[in-house]
Amino acid sequence: MTKHLITSALPYINGTKHLGNLVGSMLPADIYARYLRQKGEQVLFICGTDEHGTPAELAALKNNMAVGEYCEKMYQKQNEIYEKLGISFDYFGRTSSQQNKILTQHIANALYEKGYIYEGTVKQFYSIDDDLYLPDRYVEGECPHCGYENARGDQCENCTKLLDPEDLVKPRSAISGSENLELRESKHLFLSLKKMEGKLRTWIETKEEWSPLVKSIALKWLNEGLQDRCITRDLKWGVPVDRPGYEGKVYYVWFDAPIGYISITKEWSDQAPEERNWEDYWKDDKDVEYTQFMAKDNVPFHTISFPATLMAAEENWKLVDNLKGFNWLTYYGGKFSTSQGRGIFTDQALEIMPTDYWRYYLIARAPEGSDSSFTWEDFQQVCNKDLADVLGNFVNRLYKFSQKKYNGEVPNVSKWDEAENNLCQQLDKHLKAFDKHMSDREYRKSAQELRQIWSLGNVYIAEEAPWSNPDRMDIIIRTSFNLLGLIARLSNSFLPDTSFIIGKSLNIKSSESWTNAEEEIKNNKISTFKQLDDVLFRKIEDAEVESWKDKFGC
Ligand code: 2FM
Ligand code: ZN
Repeated sequence: MTKHLITSALPYINGTKHLGNLVGSMLPADIYARYLRQKGEQVLFICGTDEHGTPAELAALKNNMAVGEYCEKMYQKQNEIYEKLGISFDYFGRTSSQQNKILTQHIANALYEKGYIYEGTVKQFYSIDDDLYLPDRYVEGECPHCGYENARGDQCENCTKLLDPEDLVKPRSAISGSENLELRESKHLFLSLKKMEGKLRTWIETKEEWSPLVKSIALKWLNEGLQDRCITRDLKWGVPVDRPGYEGKVYYVWFDAPIGYISITKEWSDQAPEERNWEDYWKDDKDVEYTQFMAKDNVPFHTISFPATLMAAEENWKLVDNLKGFNWLTYYGGKFSTSQGRGIFTDQALEIMPTDYWRYYLIARAPEGSDSSFTWEDFQQVCNKDLADVLGNFVNRLYKFSQKKYNGEVPNVSKWDEAENNLCQQLDKHLKAFDKHMSDREYRKSAQELRQIWSLGNVYIAEEAPWSNPDRMDIIIRTSFNLLGLIARLSNSFLPDTSFIIGKSLNIKSSESWTNAEEEIKNNKISTFKQLDDVLFRKIEDAEVESWKDKFGC
């Protein structure tokens, strides 16, 4: 049986993540993992914190903590938030682990032996005012390709080109803004990406199912010609380079972070070595389908440098099969920004509304074909319309009426009429489309189909009006409960909490799979229902939207 390995981009350790991070990696990965598990597939869903590099060091300094202590605290905090958001990782690890250190050094040494890593010198900016070597991303200046003024020394976020700090026009320290910088020479290791160009191109060309977004980013890189990359840094915090003459240097965070996918899988298997084996997922392609989720700025690392690293090590490492890349979620058209406090962070989001509102809204608005813009008005509209008016309303009407008439018992029936046949026909169409979009990882389309199925329930009960149709009342109520049982299971990956609540009330397992429309609708499997403690979805008021806009700005 094929095993599914799923990874979502490893979030940086510093700070809590914003909604843009969530919708561009962890949330869709989680929905896919839940969907596959529900279909009975074997799934391993791996993620963890990306802990190395200067951002962590600086954040620790700012918080008056040792960097290890800071990372430990932030790891716990992030882990807790993802749990509250219902992200069902099989393991959430860390790149600062011993496993990652050993594996990063091992892979680097394999590359060295095979001739894909060589020594060279680098001129690096030393900031006299900050008294430290500035890592690439802490040098800012004008992008030589597109003229963007706030390009970072590792990558221009405007045109996505990878940069070296010396490429920047008018470089300055991003820490202090000082232009008092000195270029100093230091010995470093380089990865021969150029040598891998041919192999990478052949491999990428086989990836017919990659989306145009992902493929175009990868091919753009190849077509521009690959540059060898320096993969070490003059820093303390990171995986040390275990090579004489390299004392005090560490591997570049973008070298050890993706290796984290493998080492975190090893962390997972080290927890129960008798029954788990990380190599089953990562070595010699033992019938594994590997799917990665990330935002578009991460695509070059996952289509070029990481696969090149794994291929060049010549140790039969598993390469990615499906790569789902996302555009940006913007905040009123502008960038979510951690440093400027613009937008909504995951912990703040959870203080405002429960998990399922966020999960549904974000995925219904997933930035797949293009960037998409978060606004509080849109959040209100989508939640009120789809969750409260459609799904919530169907459930509310059904329970209210049935409680009065049936007192917790779902009637058994043995015949169904024209209306139920029609319902089955329509449901069949949407069920098939939902399944297809889910397995294709097309989130907006999947959400649309799901909403249509909720709406079938709402329309069915309104049109059939059991309250004024005593002859058919039993059939309508039975059919509605059957449909609701199906809805609970279909909604499981999008709205895990709601799905659980409905499932519990119907005494069914909301994580179970489904069959076809006819079998789902025409049966007598559900026998009882318990009143829900609370209204399923409440409406968001205009006054709340105004207060959130005041609080978060727009
Ligand atoms: O962009 C980011 O948030 C990175 N921390 C993603 C790393 S993905 C993987 F390679 F580790
Ligand atoms: Zn640029």
